[in-house]
Amino acid sequence: MLSEAKNTVLIGLLYVDLAWAGCPDKLSSAANPKTIRRDVVVIGGGASGAYSAVRLREDYGLSVALVEKEAQLGGHVNTWVDLATGRGFDAGVQSYVDVANSSTAFFRRFGIEIGPNTRPAQQPPVYVDFATGKKLSNYILPATTDRNDALRRYLVVAESLLSVFEPGWWTFPKPDAIPQDLLLSFGDAMVKYNLTSALPQILGLTGGGIKDFMNSPLMWVMRPFGVDMARTILGLNAGFIPTSGKNQDLYDAILKLLGPDSLLSSTVVKAKRADEGVTVDVRNAETCQVTRIVAKKLLYAASPTRENLEPFSLDETERETLYKFQFTRPFVGVVSHPSLPLGTSLSNMPEEAQGGNWTAAANREFPYASGFNNFANSSFFRVIVGGDTTLTEKRAREVLLSTFDRLVAAGTINQTDPPQPLKILYFKNHYQMNAHVPTDVIRSGFFQILNSLQGRRSTWYTGSAWATPITTSLWVFTDTVLPKLVESL
Ligand SMILES: Cc1cc2nc3c(=O)[nH]c(=O)nc-3n(C[C@H](O)[C@H](O)[C@H](O)COP(=O)(O)OP(=O)(O)OC[C@H]3O[C@@H](n4cnc5c(N)ncnc54)[C@H](O)[C@@H]3O)c2cc1C
Ligand SMILES: *[C@@H]1O[C@H](CO)[C@@H](O)[C@H](O)[C@H]1NC(C)=O
Ligand SMILES: *[C@@H]1O[C@H](CO)[C@@H](O)[C@H](O)[C@H]1NC(C)=O
Ligand SMILES: *[C@@H]1O[C@H](CO)[C@@H](O)[C@H](O)[C@H]1NC(C)=O
Ligand SMILES: *[C@@H]1O[C@H](CO)[C@@H](O)[C@H](O)[C@H]1NC(C)=O
Ligand SMILES: *[C@@H]1O[C@H](CO)[C@@H](O)[C@H](O)[C@H]1NC(C)=O
Repeated sequence: MLSEAKNTVLIGLLYVDLAWAGCPDKLSSAANPKTIRRDVVVIGGGASGAYSAVRLREDYGLSVALVEKEAQLGGHVNTWVDLATGRGFDAGVQSYVDVANSSTAFFRRFGIEIGPNTRPAQQPPVYVDFATGKKLSNYILPATTDRNDALRRYLVVAESLLSVFEPGWWTFPKPDAIPQDLLLSFGDAMVKYNLTSALPQILGLTGGGIKDFMNSPLMWVMRPFGVDMARTILGLNAGFIPTSGKNQDLYDAILKLLGPDSLLSSTVVKAKRADEGVTVDVRNAETCQVTRIVAKKLLYAASPTRENLEPFSLDETERETLYKFQFTRPFVGVVSHPSLPLGTSLSNMPEEAQGGNWTAAANREFPYASGFNNFANSSFFRVIVGGDTTLTEKRAREVLLSTFDRLVAAGTINQTDPPQPLKILYFKNHYQMNAHVPTDVIRSGFFQILNSLQGRRSTWYTGSAWATPITTSLWVFTDTVLPKLVESL
């Protein structure tokens, strides 16, 4: 206990030091913060936080302040715009699943035109073992009918467990009532329900974010790849995208609507939270200006990491609960090189997967690049590097560059003469995703305690640690939190 407390203080000091770096006027600015008063302060302007701020202000008539670390809203969206043509390329979030009537309505209220998802998830793939750079001569995928049969079996299981996941973890069963299937390893569930033919599909859409995939409990696979996702792939749900091809458009429109109620490039340096209300000191990284937000309630919509939570002066219960979350860390980006083949996707597949040994693909160790996927009708390629939370941006870039070098060395692609380096045009750290906790923690009643934190010390929570990490599912979950928050005012 003692050493843990000491560590916390240490981390706290480090954090504050880092937070002030580059702000020479820190003392004067901290001593004279500009104070604003709001009904609700929202932390994090990604899918959940931006949605919350709009609904709280526009639909519930409350005053809000939205605090976002980056210089724009949108979180994982990561649209890169080619300045030469103005065309947008979505490096992060690709498309939306229509999970409720609210999904499309939220785009329409901002005048964002949407249409069916015509965007290919992937260009026709060429399978390459990125560890060696060599093309696989004999990798095969399951027949589509087999895949769909297996996905339908998966869907039946997911539907039987739906109330555990949706909306959010509100009704997660008590430790003695947890359905066995939830904690079964994915590998065992695969055998039990004959899901092997669905593995490449499920892995392709979630694998980069899940560590030790085959041993991971089914619930952590089923959370990002649940009922709505399975139904979308089976053509039973409609996926949609903004017709502009830029997912960022929605968040730019939200930013415009919120105006000065959005505090961009800002993080919390200190917070006091009590039943009577909260006081949050927020520092702008560019101007170094500190703003004190005095609010009745706080809605936390950023990742619950130690670094993010440190300034919030957690009490013991909060710390012992929220610090249990573990994460993975993907990077997404856009690259180009004249030698990368247009109209295809170079897809990372280990040699051992030859002949259709799909479990081999699930056994890869972090960090790795998942592919070079050509954006349709362009010379740009989408890349994702998957890793755990020790992965630095420097290392992630090295993974990408060394993968490219191996592709050249193995003759899979030809370097130009003279050789040109891989051009990394855009590269974004997704910091944390796939919040999960170990099985013994789940069995000790974690979710019941997590739910009991809602509303405690004037603080409410939403975001992908609390619900299915799909934009539209997060909105549905958020719609269950907001009325409770409003009622508590
Ligand atoms: C590669 C990739 C592809 C994806 N594709 C899809 C897809 O196609 N469709 C889909 O629906 N979902 C997709 N997702 C899932 C996506 O993560 C969620 O849909 C959603 O964007 C998560 O929303 P969020 O609000 O929980 O978190 P985020 O979007 O991560 O938002 C959190 C926000 O908090 C900010 N923040 C962090 N720390 C602080 C701090 N200390 N102070 C202030 N602000 C802070 C962050 O900058 C960020 O803006 C994808 C995710 C990844 C990583
Ligand atoms: C969507 O709207 C239709 C028609 O108004 C209604 O029948 C249906 O229940 C709604 N679905 C959801 C998820 O709200
Ligand atoms: C398992 O699934 C495969 C393909 O989906 C199918 O060919 C096979 O018959 C199934 N096996 C059993 C025992 O149902
Ligand atoms: C599939 O690959 C894994 C290695 O990832 C190996 O352990 C297993 O034996 C292989 N299975 C077959 C049938 O070749
Ligand atoms: C690519 O170009 C083709 C042919 O002009 C067109 O049919 C297709 O819609 C384009 N795709 C995208 C994503 O722009
Ligand atoms: C690389 O160049 C050689 C010689 O011009 C050619 O034979 C080969 O097909 C090229 N390989 C690729 C992958 O383009």
